[in-house]
Parts: sequence; structure tokens; C-alpha cells
Amino acid sequence: MSSVSSNTPARPRRLRRLLLSVVALAVLVPALLGGVFAWVYTGAAVSTVGATDFRNQLAIPPLQEGVLGPDGRRVFELDMRSGRKEFRPGKITETWGFNGDYLGPTLRARRGERVEVRVRNALPEASTVHWHGMHLPAAMDGGPHQMVDPGRTWTPQWTVDQPAATLWYHPHPHGKTEQHVRRGLAGMFLLDDENSASLSLPSNYGVDDLPVIVQDVKFDGSGFDNSHKIFRNAGFLGEQILVNGTLAPYREVGDDLVRLRLLNASTARIYNFAFEDNRTFALIGTDGGLVQRPITLDRVQLSPGERAEIVVRMRAGERTVLRSNTLDAGFDFWNQRFSGGDDRFDILELRAAATLRSAPELPATLAEPAVPDGSDAVRERRFDLNLAGINNVPMAMDRIDLTVTRGSTEIWVVRNADGMPHNFHVHDVQFRVLSVNDAPPPAPLSGAKDTVFVAPNSTVRLALRFDGPADPDTPYMYHCHLLWHEDQGMMGQFVVVEPGQSAGTPPSHGH
Ligand code: C2O
Ligand code: CU
Ligand code: CU
Repeated sequence: MSSVSSNTPARPRRLRRLLLSVVALAVLVPALLGGVFAWVYTGAAVSTVGATDFRNQLAIPPLQEGVLGPDGRRVFELDMRSGRKEFRPGKITETWGFNGDYLGPTLRARRGERVEVRVRNALPEASTVHWHGMHLPAAMDGGPHQMVDPGRTWTPQWTVDQPAATLWYHPHPHGKTEQHVRRGLAGMFLLDDENSASLSLPSNYGVDDLPVIVQDVKFDGSGFDNSHKIFRNAGFLGEQILVNGTLAPYREVGDDLVRLRLLNASTARIYNFAFEDNRTFALIGTDGGLVQRPITLDRVQLSPGERAEIVVRMRAGERTVLRSNTLDAGFDFWNQRFSGGDDRFDILELRAAATLRSAPELPATLAEPAVPDGSDAVRERRFDLNLAGINNVPMAMDRIDLTVTRGSTEIWVVRNADGMPHNFHVHDVQFRVLSVNDAPPPAPLSGAKDTVFVAPNSTVRLALRFDGPADPDTPYMYHCHLLWHEDQGMMGQFVVVEPGQSAGTPPSHGH
């Protein structure tokens, strides 16, 4: 044993060791934290671009045109039930669906028709079915006040009174909408009218007119992994894409013009759709129906709940991939990475036949969007979007937040106040976007909308007309359509009343 160490006094040695460890900690802890952050940051970006094998033929949800009753009423049937689906070979995922294991049929009706939907709940818990984008009486809306208990049937009826459009339906139970939609409850609801029937647009369902219901998912060993990852302000963000419930989908097409009805049915993810070769396409419709004239674009952004109808030209024998690129959505550094802004996905491969039927050119004019311009607005209201609640008040089922008068137009000014990704959806109406940050809206926002993205720290002005019918006791909802945000309370309620009438009391619930 060396005498050197035994001669060194014990106390200074201990002190030195302590000092050394403090220095080491001071260096190591930040380095370690930095390392963990770098690892989390790097791992947060997802890309399936170029890594998708497009092995599955795109499923087309069955078309349900309903049965005509003796009184001319068009009757649809929707059964909400649990199911099992093999998204991946040999692996079963527990799902929910309408009339099947996952998603639901595409319902189709015409303007002027009386429709009835028999909604039967065969799920183990109560839920609702909301007709997103539909103008209809509040009691038929399928929001959180129209809960359907397990084993019960709910039969809403209304008269379709709005232009041709691509609408959709999904559950809306307060606090559980994200969960119910994530399990697979969603479907399209197409409306036609005289004008849409007279236009030469691709309209052969499943042939040159394809529903494209886009959802992001994540699987674990036993099925869906719906857990939210760290720092995700937006809610759940998945790592793979399902289109109409199909993973890695391709679709053969036999026409040179193909219409895609894009629906963002994801609960939190925003997509920036474009083709792999950046070819242009025509935007022909937004949430509430056809736009005035086709708009040439090479990308279109959709936040949860929004729709876009686009027409793309195909060349014989080619393949092209619809992708979602990184977002240019005004996110800060943090949200760009942790709210999905840096993610990229292969969505759907279109495979053109060796010879294609040639379609007539798109019409130069499509429709006159029936949305107000705001010139006759009777009042202006402000909505500050915060995760804590709209105008800082979280949703309460028994509180009516605002009362509007039937037949009146209002201006709603909606501001993203907390810098997180949000959008804004209003039930019952289609609105016009008057401005975005005081500038005229970009062309893709020129049509009828029921859901609009509100970028961090920006403001949109909307003109909305409430045509009724009045029902002072039954509210409609407005909310952020990032469903986890909605479930957290980013939702409010309004009623439509006759002039001079005041709001009543929302129904009380035993649930
Ligand atoms: Cu798509 Cu209130 O919902
Ligand atoms: Cu809705
Ligand atoms: Cu939100």
C-alpha cells in the first residue's frame, strides 16, 4: 500500500471529492437533460414518405341511399356497434363502427328531401351521432344533449335544405368524443342538389368520385395505441395513416379526371395535402359545398373536421401519390415539432389504367356559395380560443353561452389566444370567412365553411346567418375540433330564438 494516500489528510480529500461531484453533476445533468430532450425532439417527427408499399386496395365505404317511405321520406339505418378488424395481416384490432367493424356507410340525399335516420346503439355505452355541417333543428343535431343509451334507438328527422356538399357524421358525447371517434365511428354524408346534378363533374361514386377519409393511427401489439405522447399540445398524434380504414392504400382509376372528397377525420392532426410531383389540381368544394369556380392549387391544408373536394388529372398508365407535407401553419418551434408540423405522410397512391376514359373539362362556374357577406350583421361577438376554455370558460352542459335571433346575421371574431393549434367549428350553419388577420381570406377559404383553422396568435372574422328553426331550450355547439381540446372543455353552446324571445333551459341529463 502506498504511503501517499494514507498521508493525505482525510478532510480536504472528502471536500475535493464533493466538489468534483458537484462539478460533474453541474455538467452532466444539463447534458443528460439536453440529451433526453434531443432524443424526444428527434423522435417526435414522423415520416412515412417513400417508405409506404401501397399494398392494400383502398376500401370504399358502401353507399347507403336509404329506403323511400310511402310519404316520400328517405330512411337510413345506422347501427353503432363494436367490431374486430384485421388492419394488419394476422393482427386483430378491437374497433367500433356503423353497420360494420370500422367507419360507416356513405349516406346520400338530395336537397328538399325529408330524411330520417334510425340510429341504434349496440355499443356497451351511451353515445350520440352528430351530422357535421348539416343545417337542421337543434334537437336533431346529435350533439351532447341527444345521448342514445345502449340498446336504444334515436330517430332524428329533418328536411335537407342546403346546397350539395360533402358532410360527415360522428359521435359527440361530452368529454368522450375523441375516444369514440378514434375507435372508428365516422362516416360521410353526401348531399346533392339540382345544380350539382346539372354540372359535368366526376360523380360516379367509388369510380371517379372517391371518398378519402383520412385518419392517423398508432398500433401496439394488441390494437390501437391511443395514448398521448409527451409535449403533444394537440392531443393524440398517430404514426400511420388509414384512408377509409385502409393502411397503405392504392386505388386504380379509369378516368382522366378524378374527384377526391378529402375529409380530415383525424382527432388532432392537420394535413397539408399535395401530390408527390406537386402537380396542380382543382379545388371545387369546401365544407359547405361547391365554390364559385374551380381554384387551381398545388396543396391544400385541412385541420380536423374540414373537407375539400379536389379534381386531379391523371395520365394513362401513371402512378402518383397523394402526400401530406410539413405544415406551414404559423406554429412556433415547439408546436412545429410536437404538434405534428414536421411530420410527413404518404396518403394514397392513384394508379391510372393503360387507357383512360376522357372526361369533359371542368365547368368554368360551379355555384354561388349561399353564405352571408356580413353587410347586414346585427352584432359582433368575440371568441378567444384557449385550451382552458373559449373566452376562458370551460364548457358546461347546463349553461347557454349565447343567444342568437332567427333570421339574423352576426359577425364572429375568433382569435387563437394561447398559441396552440386550434380550429373553430359551428353547428347548424355554413359561414363565410371575411378575413384572416384583417387581410382578405386566401382562395381556399372563399367558399362555405363550417370549420376553420385558426393559426396561433391569429384572428379570423366570420359571417354567419342563423335561419332557425328557433328552439330556446336546445343548444347547438361551437368548439375547437381538435377533439381532445373539445373534450377538455373548448366548447360552448348557443340557442336560436324568435325575435324578442329569451334563452330557455337546456335539458337536464341523468347520465
Ligand atoms: Cu364534427 Cu361538434 O362536430
Ligand atoms: Cu358539427
Ligand atoms: Cu384546440
